Amino acid sequence: MSARTLVTGGTVLTAADEIAADVLVDGEQVVALATPGSTLAASFTPDTVVDATGCWVIPGGVDAHTHMEMPFGGTFAADTFETGTRAAAWGGTTTIVDFAIQSKGGSLREGLDTWHAKAEGNCAIDYAFHMILSDVTDSSLKEMEALVGEGVSSFKMFMAYPGVFYSDDGQVLRAMQKAGETGGLTMIHAENGIAIDVLVEQALARGQSDPRYHGQVRHALLEAEATHRAIALARVAGAPVYIVHLSAAEALAEVASAREAGVNAFAETCPQYLFLDVDELSRPGFEGAKYVCSTPLRPVEHQAALWRGLRGDDLSVVSTDHCPFCFTGQKELGVGDFSKIPNGMPGVETRMDLLHQAVLDGHISRRRWIELACATPARMFGLYPRKGTIAPGSDADIVIYDPTRVQTHSAATHHMAVDYSPYEGRTTTGKARTVLSRGKVVVHRDEYRGHAGHGRFLRRDTCQYLR
Ligand code: URP
Ligand code: ZN
Ligand code: ZN
Repeated sequence: MSARTLVTGGTVLTAADEIAADVLVDGEQVVALATPGSTLAASFTPDTVVDATGCWVIPGGVDAHTHMEMPFGGTFAADTFETGTRAAAWGGTTTIVDFAIQSKGGSLREGLDTWHAKAEGNCAIDYAFHMILSDVTDSSLKEMEALVGEGVSSFKMFMAYPGVFYSDDGQVLRAMQKAGETGGLTMIHAENGIAIDVLVEQALARGQSDPRYHGQVRHALLEAEATHRAIALARVAGAPVYIVHLSAAEALAEVASAREAGVNAFAETCPQYLFLDVDELSRPGFEGAKYVCSTPLRPVEHQAALWRGLRGDDLSVVSTDHCPFCFTGQKELGVGDFSKIPNGMPGVETRMDLLHQAVLDGHISRRRWIELACATPARMFGLYPRKGTIAPGSDADIVIYDPTRVQTHSAATHHMAVDYSPYEGRTTTGKARTVLSRGKVVVHRDEYRGHAGHGRFLRRDTCQYLR
């Protein structure tokens, strides 16, 4: 017989509702929401009772953009699937969608198999994959259909990083056409990488080698231009498009005008663009390297536009782009040449809490918090209602969230395998008290109870906004 769990005394908060209810869990799934004290609640005989008094009972977070162990700039992202998914669980995220990578000259199959091998048996929470296309050829285009059938239904291409992950406009168009035919969703890293490389070369020639020049050469207009181009190519292909890690107000304006015209253009942003700004890149010494990511942090004025986009629906998802590199030994690869700093920042553990702080600060409503962090990413990437909500039949990925617990962010206390916190010393209010992944308690009151191998691969359906 499967174990039964009763979550009682809290307020269930989903993207749609806010109700005082007990959650009845049988094995790995939610079987009912019951009015406290009702016959249904009283007749349920649990093995475990989880007290949620004073807490929100929310769906586990769905982080649709992580890069565990990602190879980048001659090194690898510091979190493995084991450490990264454990950190995610600590932060109330119970599903990640990571990126498998096609290597240049390699097949999608080889890339996907490699990422399955990295993740299988190592994850604390459930996981799925997008596929990065680094070599769009006739044969890789042919493989896309099979991947959609295997639950890998989204494909990322880079308009940035020439010579590494870069796809030219013809390749982007061809992949979008194929995605359109097969029901796949293309995800675009929208920056004009060819123009950026010219600016990088010119900056270095002038002796401008510090981290702050990373922010200058990756101009907001080059994000906006690429966003415009990506959307235009998607329209020509008759396919939807999802812009990843959008940070510039000008790029958001491109998404907004396309959406206004009825185009299936979607975009995500990330907490670093909402809570940090370009000034971090000018920290003394080489400290600014901790804040090197692409798209880059922007001047603080962009944040108001991003919050506005999140309150409406021009930005519909907040994911992390979690891609951590230690300061010592990894970020330091770029001492004397900012273009050699591995791009990326940690975030998988802090997303839910930073967004809860955004609720307290009045930027978004609490239901919008759940919509942006749980429900919409699940729908966007074909996981709803299994993930992203609390309803009969959903996986029992449930977070008992204490909205009053104050925490101070620090590398000394976080669980990500990286030697700095971008938010070192910053205080936020709200924290996961208990986290269930498919009915199993993985975190409870500052104790980790999960294990590597509990997390399973999720075969995803196609994007659920296009039916
Ligand atoms: O700086 C970033 N974003 N690193 C991860 C790779 C990517 O472009 O998403
Ligand atoms: Zn990217
Ligand atoms: Zn990324």
